[in-house]
Amino acid sequence: MGAGWPRAYKSKVVEPIRLPERGEREARLVEAGHNVFRLESNDIYVDLLTDSGTGAMSHAQWGALMQGDESYAGSRSFSAFRDTVRSITGMDYVLPTHQGRAAEHVYFSTVLSRGDVVPNNTHFDTTRANVLAQRGRPYDLPEAVAMDPDVDLPFKGNMDVDGLRSLIDEVGARKIPVVFLTVTNNTAAGQPVSMANVKAVASVCRQHGIPLMLDAARYGENCFFVHQREDGYAHHSIPDIARELFSLVDGCLMSAKKDGLGNIGGFIALRDPEGFARCREKLILTEGFPTYGGLAGRDLNALAIGLREALELPYLRERVGQVRWLGEQLAEEGIPVYWPPGGHAVYVDASRLLPHIPREKYPGQSLVCALYTEGGVRAVEVGSVMFGDAARMELVRLAIPRRVYCQEHLQWVVDTLCRVRDRKETVPGMQLVEGQGPLRHFIARFAPAD
Ligand code: F0G
Repeated sequence: MGAGWPRAYKSKVVEPIRLPERGEREARLVEAGHNVFRLESNDIYVDLLTDSGTGAMSHAQWGALMQGDESYAGSRSFSAFRDTVRSITGMDYVLPTHQGRAAEHVYFSTVLSRGDVVPNNTHFDTTRANVLAQRGRPYDLPEAVAMDPDVDLPFKGNMDVDGLRSLIDEVGARKIPVVFLTVTNNTAAGQPVSMANVKAVASVCRQHGIPLMLDAARYGENCFFVHQREDGYAHHSIPDIARELFSLVDGCLMSAKKDGLGNIGGFIALRDPEGFARCREKLILTEGFPTYGGLAGRDLNALAIGLREALELPYLRERVGQVRWLGEQLAEEGIPVYWPPGGHAVYVDASRLLPHIPREKYPGQSLVCALYTEGGVRAVEVGSVMFGDAARMELVRLAIPRRVYCQEHLQWVVDTLCRVRDRKETVPGMQLVEGQGPLRHFIARFAPAD
């Protein structure tokens, strides 16, 4: 098929999908208040809303589910999970959580005081909201190139190291209890962070005595980009690259629904026993006993395997290759996409595809709605709806679930976008009719603007 990667899987179980008639799609969208988060999955043909928890587990994972140890305390499943996390990260102190944002809540509630500043290359929406919930101040420090959707550079997810230095000078290290790096940088179009950048950020943090943490949701994909693109890493294995990455930081929060290849799960991993003890106390209050942390034993078993599978080279080649293929097809069709494609998703530049829709009429939301009515495709807005005034671009993310769709599905997405492009003048802007706050995008309602 000319996509350039060998398929690493064949199917053993299938799940039917359905394309509703156009009239039905239009009706469903109106009922959903023009917010695709409110649609039912039965009414969706190709679902690219998120790559989070939507992946297909391997037969090894499904087998391990049957062997889950559901003991409240000290389960075998926890030991397997903890040992996997320890061997990947080199960090001794591991706490499971039910997903990434639970790890964020537990962690930030133990380290942040009112008015504290948290720098990040770019916060994801729940990370930003969890910092705000503790009365902290999230501060994004992407490099300027991240805002240029055209320049073809290998590591557009990097943190602006000079910006970090200036921020520390300005507010003082005492006001910054932690610095975060999000790998890959989801909000900056899924772009990777180079090992050199992690080293530079780590050195600034060390100099000022500030802990450095990873938001490791997609660290496996990030390690693959390092392997492919960064000088000196072509002959390093992915687990070795991951080891080096984690060796540079003091801990990590992870949504294991991404590069853990699980349908649910997350964790906190730390080197510091005192920080661990504080988080553990909070975890017992909100998530559960420290050997299950909001998960069933079977989930922990599946993650113990998924975390390793996500570092296998044939898997990563196919995964990142699939995303790249979609990006290339769209670019060839003249659809403005953020370049280069990220690790988990292709981001369409809605403000350029729909130039007649001004920012205040949410071009990203308009495009998301048009993709659903045109082809039953569900995508997500990553722009002014999601980030309000903090939005730097009006993007629509086509996130690809792991090991789920094949090239025919993605071709359908390309064809759908081409049909939207061909009738773009007819795509209306949107107005917000209900919803507020930093998480409004999940529940807001919209209507076509006049
Ligand atoms: N950090 C990053 C970088 C994420 O992308 C996400 C989730 C989280 C943290 C929170 O993890 O969902 O397990 O609670 N991202 C999903 C997405 C929801 O669609 O990008 P969670």
